[in-house]
Amino acid sequence: MNEINLDLIDTTGEPPVAEPERQYYYMAKCRALISEKIKKLGRPLYCQTRTFGCQMNAKDSEKLIGILKQLGYTEMSQEDNREPDFILYNTCTVRENANLKVYGHLGYLKKQKAKNPDMIIALCGCMMQEPEVVEKIKKSYRFVDLIFGTYNIYKLAELIYENWTTGKSVIEILDSTKDIVEELPIERKFSFKSGVNIMFGCNNFCSYCIVPYVRGRERSRKPQDIINEIKNLVADGVVEIMLLGQNVNSYGKNLDEPLSFAKLLTMVEEIEGLERIRFMTSHPKDLSDELIEVMKHSKKICKHLHLPMQSGSSHILKVMNRHYDKEKYIELAMKIKREIPDISLTTDIIVGFPGESEEDFLDTLDVVRQVRYDSAYTFIYSKRTGTPAAKMENQVPADVIKDRFDRLLKEVQTISSELTLQNVGKTFDVLVEDVNEHDADYVTGRLSNNSVVHFKGGRELIGKIVNVRLDQAKGFYYMGTMEEM
Ligand code: 5AD
Ligand code: SF4
Repeated sequence: MNEINLDLIDTTGEPPVAEPERQYYYMAKCRALISEKIKKLGRPLYCQTRTFGCQMNAKDSEKLIGILKQLGYTEMSQEDNREPDFILYNTCTVRENANLKVYGHLGYLKKQKAKNPDMIIALCGCMMQEPEVVEKIKKSYRFVDLIFGTYNIYKLAELIYENWTTGKSVIEILDSTKDIVEELPIERKFSFKSGVNIMFGCNNFCSYCIVPYVRGRERSRKPQDIINEIKNLVADGVVEIMLLGQNVNSYGKNLDEPLSFAKLLTMVEEIEGLERIRFMTSHPKDLSDELIEVMKHSKKICKHLHLPMQSGSSHILKVMNRHYDKEKYIELAMKIKREIPDISLTTDIIVGFPGESEEDFLDTLDVVRQVRYDSAYTFIYSKRTGTPAAKMENQVPADVIKDRFDRLLKEVQTISSELTLQNVGKTFDVLVEDVNEHDADYVTGRLSNNSVVHFKGGRELIGKIVNVRLDQAKGFYYMGTMEEM
């Protein structure tokens, strides 16, 4: 798409019906309007985005910024305290506190809009797929100009155009989509690494989770579209990609010509110039022996697997609708460790799911001790309206949850620091990601197993893979020294 010249698009007639041509038409229309505004004001028009939540949202934001830049907006950094002309919040609703944060920000935006009535405020993402949220915003936050959901981010230009030409708030929330619109602009955050969507949505309906309701049913992208995207990224300097999906292990099941995730990985592996492959997230119930085999023999797939456990109690796992029990999970984790000994395993754990007893919690601790995760994201159960778990009566008291959460965190951290110590003194391939936040003489990079290391070096190393000896383990990260290649 980046080669499409919007100035050559005929905007005199009716908009095309087919996508992405329709969006190119609206992008060209908006671009003409923006260019007029820029001339009138004698300065650039600034846009800013805030992204909450997961890697999927981060990727969606890159697409949204890609469109905004095509329209003629100049992107502002998060630190820039200038007032944006267009502000977009890409929201998350997986846990309640993500929603609360957005309402907090809206209060602040109201004041900003009072000072600058021309500012456009847009909200999109998972939270907007909840009807109660949209009702609340319509009632209590009427200054919001644009609301759209997860299925129509590709329509940003069309929605902005409607807002400008009607002068009214535009709300478009779709319930679902079968389409995947390819060939739209994108503004990548990093030059050397990129997320690549391989599928959208989730069919699993874990009983606590809102994702299937706000992201819809599973839709896989065609392998050729994925491969072409990655080839273009590599030609553009990308060395590491992260394949993104809510449950990558069920990739390809709904394609006209079904293809397993493991087969897709072998196709991606063949792309010349690509150095590292990561993926997120794997549901344990669908993780195949074929995948373990492919990972074991791959030269490019990183030695890291995120394998959400959620709970160690077979009883709770059943009520969560996870389709595995404690024994099956441990067996799978052990098989992976046996087959790929240097793999780093990470997980997600929920504490305080309705009905969780002390015994259930001890099962979770037991799995943590047996599997020994390199790190774990621990979450306090959050009641999401519309999910089956929200209606369960035996909710766990907050003080009990807090106590369990602290005990779990302590266990996770102890194991994690023991494991990081084992690598001290060894040398690893490290992809340099950035100049160190605190000391400009240092850079920060990532090992294949996803650990972070800081070491002396300059900006010119960003995007390069170098050898680094790990000198010290500091809990979550290492300090190291770069070695001669
Ligand atoms: N409460 C707490 N954590 C949740 N997650 C998903 N839904 C909820 C919820 N209602 C966690 C799961 C999932 C991660 C992305 O978020 O652990 O793997
Ligand atoms: Fe939510 Fe379960 Fe789907 Fe993950 S697999 S997105 S936890 S429903």
